Amino acid sequence: MQERLQKLISQAGITSRRAAEELILNGRVAVNDRVVTELGSKADPSSDRITVDGRPLVIASQKLYILLNKPVGYMTTLDDPEGRPLVTDLLQGIGERVYPVGRLDYNTEGLLILTNDGEWANRLMHPRHEIEKEYHVRVRGKVHKSQLDQLAAGVEIDGRKTAPAVVRMVKSGEQNDWLSIAIHEGRNRQVRRMCEAVSLSVVRLKRVRYGALSLGPLKPGEFRHLGQAEVDALRNPTQPAAGTTKEPSGNVKRHEHRVRTGHGKLAEEKNYGPGTKPARTAAFPKKARTPGKPNKQP
Ligand code: URA
Repeated sequence: MQERLQKLISQAGITSRRAAEELILNGRVAVNDRVVTELGSKADPSSDRITVDGRPLVIASQKLYILLNKPVGYMTTLDDPEGRPLVTDLLQGIGERVYPVGRLDYNTEGLLILTNDGEWANRLMHPRHEIEKEYHVRVRGKVHKSQLDQLAAGVEIDGRKTAPAVVRMVKSGEQNDWLSIAIHEGRNRQVRRMCEAVSLSVVRLKRVRYGALSLGPLKPGEFRHLGQAEVDALRNPTQPAAGTTKEPSGNVKRHEHRVRTGHGKLAEEKNYGPGTKPARTAAFPKKARTPGKPNKQP
């Protein structure tokens, strides 16, 4: 079936539809070896050879959406020059190539979504949606309220303040405290660097929620396929993330940050303007990827 080229490029996970239009206008897309620069152009991926920068477009036959509990010690890139284990090594029995939606550090564990539906992934990662990601962080020693306040209000990373976060104490132990930090940005090693900025030493970092999707009972290294309702819920988040409201326009507006101390007791509420937009993440970058070349892991 014939489809618009920008849709096919986006479906292949190369880039968003809008960025695909730029690729077309810039003469980087060809159909059957003929460069196409008109935006309305269509092609049939089953019979036409579509290339971006000379490399053939690969469109998956079956859409897969996977939730993995990533263990520590796995890379979210598609290969690693140092030969470290890859998250895709854990996906026994998955015939199709799938890509992580965003990234987790080698030493971060928890919820990771993988898919071969590039358009869906690009949508999820689009800054407009401001999908909230929640992390549980075990830190050395005791956390002070002033540190929670700073994390929630935003701290400076690389000369730019982080957007307001939802921060609460989860557990307090002899040696360590556990915090929950929910952010909607996706800056490089953001949670670790936020903690560093307030002199907290991270011992363990686990992502427990991505929008409405929670990690649930999966053990490290286990995965499951997402149900259609989960896929749809992530595609069309109707629930605003914590700390946000939906304006009548449908835009999400961040209006408060909350600091919970003493195991969930609401300590303080403040009003803020809209937060900083998140950065695009690794798996389906805006720029065309070089097939076979991994996206860089920080
Ligand atoms: N923040 C981090 O610091 N690391 C991750 O892996 C994810 C969020």
